[in-house]
Amino acid sequence: MNIIRFKINEKVLCHKHEDPEGSYREARILDTRENNGNTEYYIRYTEYNKRLDEWTTTNNIIRYSSKENIIRPTTKEDGIGQRKMTRSLRQSNVSMLEKDSEINDKIGTQENEIFQRTKNIQNVTIGDYDLNVWYFSPYPGEYGHVERLYICEHCLKYMSKANTYIKHREHCPYHFPPGLLIYKDDKKHLAFFEVDGAEAKMFCQSLCLLSKMFLDHKTLYYDVEPFYFYILCEFNYNEQWKSDDYHIVGYFSKEKASPDGYNLSCLMVLPHYQRKGYGKMLISMSYELSKIEGIPGSPEKPLSDLGLVSFKSYWSGVIAEELLNSTEIPSIEDLTLKTGITKEDCVSTLDTLGCISPYRGSQIISINQNTMEKLRKKSLENKVLVKKELLHWKPHSVVVKYPNVMQTLRTYC
Ligand code: ACO
Ligand code: ZN
Repeated sequence: MNIIRFKINEKVLCHKHEDPEGSYREARILDTRENNGNTEYYIRYTEYNKRLDEWTTTNNIIRYSSKENIIRPTTKEDGIGQRKMTRSLRQSNVSMLEKDSEINDKIGTQENEIFQRTKNIQNVTIGDYDLNVWYFSPYPGEYGHVERLYICEHCLKYMSKANTYIKHREHCPYHFPPGLLIYKDDKKHLAFFEVDGAEAKMFCQSLCLLSKMFLDHKTLYYDVEPFYFYILCEFNYNEQWKSDDYHIVGYFSKEKASPDGYNLSCLMVLPHYQRKGYGKMLISMSYELSKIEGIPGSPEKPLSDLGLVSFKSYWSGVIAEELLNSTEIPSIEDLTLKTGITKEDCVSTLDTLGCISPYRGSQIISINQNTMEKLRKKSLENKVLVKKELLHWKPHSVVVKYPNVMQTLRTYC
């Protein structure tokens, strides 16, 4: 029997689920529900990212009268498990929290409502994996109100029932995303597909809804025509089908024409593939495309905390490598040309690396013994990047099909 009742919006102390330290964190109650005769509370931890929101029971909550035993964000706040966080991520989390409120002030009431909403779907099954959902996603009708959503990893059709999902998996005719194969690494079993939002509208809308489960602050769900979607897949040979089977790892979207010079709009790696270097591989693809186009690019803002840490890591790795491999110190313009990274992003990265000095009212790159060490360390961090020789792509209308491998599935459904 539940004796203690907490009110919506009440500030409380809550013992986080699966937290081995057993102390309490400051939180706020956003919602309540009845589950098998028990009252459950939807908790948002005050100083932590929204992806740590959870339903919890009365037993885990105490009134906000004593501040003893409160845990502040320290080493574990990645929302996926108990992995340690880097210092830079902790710092970036703080700035993203500040940005959260700035952004919410700016956007309209309707969108604001969506951002503030509690998680509507708790779990998702995709392919062979069961994942915890991080954020609200506006799946239509009944699909937006289920405990678990089932998603076909090939066509991204979403289903609310396990039986329907099992049957669909047996009969789904698609084994790869509905677009052009632009990259295939047979040694690493990795491939990229370019999917046109105007041609495979339903697939791209489903991808955006899936992506929103792990991505805050993004509003694109249905208006997919102005974008290309670059989808990274792992593949393996399927004996039964006598062909390769492609498993979606993550993607990034790119505006067909960006007046702001963005070369990447949304970036997402599914949680079970995260922290293996795939985020940086997707980022490196976005810059390879920019280099082919001859236009330096930058990601659309705001970046999420994880997006920021990934971009910073990519930029410093690539720039460190360029500096170490150059016979003489390059100019910032040279770096931009070679990497596809905008001048502004180059300068901020060089600053972080301690390689920038003022000179006659301007800024120049300068490297000393200390920064050399830092550069060497950073240059080793780019593990899985795109190999240019395997990329077969030309800007927009002149897309080259991958030799001998391209199958002719150009539209979805
Ligand atoms: N905690 C600490 N560091 C992390 C974490 C984490 N949870 N996740 C990634 N990193 C660091 C890695 O250590 C690595 O840095 P290092 O090489 O210097 O050690 C760097 O980030 C990149 O790691 P990858 O393994 O290449 O990236 P991953 O495959 O995990 O994908 C991504 C990164 C795409 C941001 C993923 O976390 C994700 O999909 N998050 C949810 C959606 C999101 O936030 N997308 C970005 C939005 S911004 C935008 O769309 C423009
Ligand atoms: Zn399917």
